[in-house]
Amino acid sequence: MADISIAPQDDIRAKDTPLIRLKEIYKIYQMGDETVHATDGISLDIYRGEFVAIVGKSGSGKSTLMNIIGALDVPTKGNYYIDGHDTSSMTDNELADIRNRRIGFIFQQYNLLPKLSILENVELPLLYQGVKEPERKIRAMEELEKVGLKEKAKMRPIQLSGGQQQRVSIARALASRPSLILADEPTGALDSKTSREVLDIIKKLNDEGNTIVMITHDPTIAVRARRVVRIIDGKVDFDGSAEEYGKL
Ligand SMILES: Nc1ncnc2c1ncn2[C@@H]1O[C@H](COP(=O)(O)OP(=O)(O)OP(=O)(O)O)[C@@H](O)[C@H]1O
Ligand SMILES: [Mg+2]
Repeated sequence: MADISIAPQDDIRAKDTPLIRLKEIYKIYQMGDETVHATDGISLDIYRGEFVAIVGKSGSGKSTLMNIIGALDVPTKGNYYIDGHDTSSMTDNELADIRNRRIGFIFQQYNLLPKLSILENVELPLLYQGVKEPERKIRAMEELEKVGLKEKAKMRPIQLSGGQQQRVSIARALASRPSLILADEPTGALDSKTSREVLDIIKKLNDEGNTIVMITHDPTIAVRARRVVRIIDGKVDFDGSAEEYGKL
């Protein structure tokens, strides 16, 4: 007869290791007499295929959290697991490897190298990974095609509009085929029409199966994600669907 019944959904979730698991993450700064809890005990699981917006006021701890998720910084206290691996036991080299291979970064100011061509900028993460020619160029070209900028490959970043430069930085983030795309205010420097275009691309990447964590202070951008996590004073204050968030 039937054994212990578990709802299929719960069963899958229990077995599925989260891509990102934050357990009681604290980042504490001692500023003279004052102690700043930039993150104050944040716990969060993010699964493959999710599109999560992290929102909160200026100074709430969003970038601190992003730096920890991106393995750019380590927490003062708490554990961060990526794909089940505890990052606290990793060496600097192992953390660098996570950054280079598993995470694609998109920044507000694009961070493209001005002296390199568009194609060379997109090739860069592949160069770090040791991918050789001609595969490197072919793969970078494929990523440029996905963001509709193949014909700009030979140009320099300065010859492109802000929206186009951000699309190049998206192509660069995708080039290493990362497990996670991490975007800090990706539309922060763009006008509203261009913001929508860039968000459409990010949304499409999620529809194609990419896991995305996007930081924004703009609620109208956040509702375009699937899940919204709001941070207040270094703590999670809301965690739910974008639909629920939109009704707040
Ligand atoms: N290196 C540091 N030394 C001391 N305090 C810091 C440091 N980095 C961040 N903080 C403090 O931690 C808190 C959170 O900062 P954080 O940069 O994460 O905020 P944020 O949510 O990204 O803000 P914004 O929307 O303005 O980018 C702030 O009070 C900030 O002053
Ligand atoms: Mg910030």
